[in-house]
Amino acid sequence: MTFQNELINWYHVNKRDLPWRHTQDAYTIWLSEIILQQTRVEQGLPYFTKFLHKFPSVFDFAATTETEVLKLWQGLGYYSRGRNMHATAQLVVKNFEGRFPTLHDELIKLKGVGEYTAAAISSFSSGEARAVVDGNVFRVLARYFGIDTAINSPAGKKQFYMLANDLLLKSDPALYNQAIMEFGAIQCKPKSPVCSICPLNQSCYAFKNNLINVLPVKIKKAVQKHRFFNYFVCVTDTDVLVKERQAGDIWQHLYDFPLIETENEISLADPIFNNEVKTLFGSDVDCTLLSYKRHILTHQIIHVQFFGLKNYIFNFNKQKELNWVSFSKLEELPQPKVIHNFILEHFASQ
Ligand code: ADE
Repeated sequence: MTFQNELINWYHVNKRDLPWRHTQDAYTIWLSEIILQQTRVEQGLPYFTKFLHKFPSVFDFAATTETEVLKLWQGLGYYSRGRNMHATAQLVVKNFEGRFPTLHDELIKLKGVGEYTAAAISSFSSGEARAVVDGNVFRVLARYFGIDTAINSPAGKKQFYMLANDLLLKSDPALYNQAIMEFGAIQCKPKSPVCSICPLNQSCYAFKNNLINVLPVKIKKAVQKHRFFNYFVCVTDTDVLVKERQAGDIWQHLYDFPLIETENEISLADPIFNNEVKTLFGSDVDCTLLSYKRHILTHQIIHVQFFGLKNYIFNFNKQKELNWVSFSKLEELPQPKVIHNFILEHFASQ
């Protein structure tokens, strides 16, 4: 049996019943694919349901505010994806009268839609013959065909894309694409795949040559940058002081607290930091370290210290975009996960 037929047979028996597999509507598929770029199926499902419920059509999505989109996106991370979705929904309404594109060459022009997503949406919605190449596909192909070119090198990308498109079942691209991704997600897993029960094991290069833990090959990325965020938490019985983050850094348009970023991990015993705190909050300020969290992003590790303040006066000129908001209003505003978790831990009863 061919590689393709084995995959599809396996898929018919083992596939998960996922809601976006019951539609050819490009808007719904776009929603699912953008969410699934960001997270695994189990975590993505509730987000997909929430988004589709709130915005049943691209018109509903386009008509909402960016803040609302970011709020729904909260917890998924990489918030530019949420912002790109909003911009794309608005463009589709404006330029395509709300008809979401179904062809690769139109899709690829949309904000936030790359090669993978354009192939996924076009094959699932219109049956266009475009092979999807995501992490699952790289892994399956590298192992089965024994390819050791790095998947994140330009040469590797070219090689895998060519092979993937050669293998694509032209009579049913959607079925084949779903099958290979599902096979990668469930059977040919990154760690400890159960090769003994794999229908492809007799012809799998990596299995036969004991290379399952070696393939695919990936070049290690540059080390992540460490950043040190010192947040100051000012609360009354009902309100909390928050800051809207601005363009040019992570978490654009999300809400956090007044912040001093330092080069290293810092303590209140450090005279320079202590001075800075007093300049900002007055010389009588009473400042206590409440908690420390490490927050890991794709390219950055954020070391977060939360300081609780009492007896402060506030110099608003020194930190712009600050506002007092009620705890209930804050619920509606998008926040970085680390802030949201802090609030849940410390002010859950508010
Ligand atoms: N991951 C990305 N797209 C997917 C899909 N359509 N089904 C399951 N997992 C996915």
